[in-house]
Amino acid sequence: MTTLAPPTLPAPQTLAARRIAELGPRARLCGLYDALGAPLYQDLTTYDDYETRALLAGVRAAGGPVLDLAAGAGRFTLPLLAVGREVTALDLSADMLDLLRAELAKVPARMRERCTVVQADMSGFDLGRRFPYVLLGTTSLSLLDADGRAGLYHSVLSHLTDRGTFLLTVMERGDTDGPDETAERLTGVGGTRYEFHEHWPAGAAGRTVTLLPADPPPDDSPVPVCTDHVAVVDLPRLETELLAAGLTVVSRQLLTQPGERHRVTLLTTEALR
Ligand SMILES: C[S@@+](CC[C@H](N)C(=O)[O-])C[C@H]1O[C@@H](n2cnc3c(N)ncnc32)[C@H](O)[C@@H]1O
Repeated sequence: MTTLAPPTLPAPQTLAARRIAELGPRARLCGLYDALGAPLYQDLTTYDDYETRALLAGVRAAGGPVLDLAAGAGRFTLPLLAVGREVTALDLSADMLDLLRAELAKVPARMRERCTVVQADMSGFDLGRRFPYVLLGTTSLSLLDADGRAGLYHSVLSHLTDRGTFLLTVMERGDTDGPDETAERLTGVGGTRYEFHEHWPAGAAGRTVTLLPADPPPDDSPVPVCTDHVAVVDLPRLETELLAAGLTVVSRQLLTQPGERHRVTLLTTEALR
């Protein structure tokens, strides 16, 4: 059974580590998907981005229910419901699923009633039914280690209908000479400004992301600092793993611009026949 990743301190030489040191005892280290971190993550969620559009297009060919793995607060679940699909939203984090339920409470009942929310581990689940489409977006495959990925492929195969499709996105470094660390300012839906740091030396087996409020109040109040270390799985290795598990890639769609730091590819896969 996989558990949610505990917060991982960024490497000492990074700007993110300096920001945490500056906050001193005010810093409350948390994961991105736990009780402290989930609201920050959700505040930065958008529903109209290239990945959501690509996944919605990817499930358009046939009708039927969709299984949204690592659904979180519903970045793909909600748009899928909005276009009339039946969706099972699966996630390990009770805190993320609470946010999803709160979002579902705001939408019309006819939309909400088409959603089933399940707390489960995507590396080993049994829902007792099959789906023409299983999705794993947001490059969330990188949250699993090799054993977890093997469990995921096995579970996905036992939930796909005969000609069912498993769609997943994967992230690689798309630039060759970019910096090891980047920092950007982001503004949440509620107007809060955040700093988002990423430490990802080219060729490294993983990257560390850190998210914290950019303008904490000038007092002694606690400041949430979300940190997470996620694995990097390159496409050739991933495709080898998928094939060994019995899934064949039928299309690859680059979702980002060539040369961008984050090279995101949408893979469409089917069970080997
Ligand atoms: C990057 S977020 C993506 C959430 C949502 N799809 C989105 O795009 O906003 C990754 C999600 O994976 C969930 N997660 C992490 N490990 C998991 C596991 N082993 N099984 C199921 N969900 C998991 C986290 O709780 C989190 O909601």
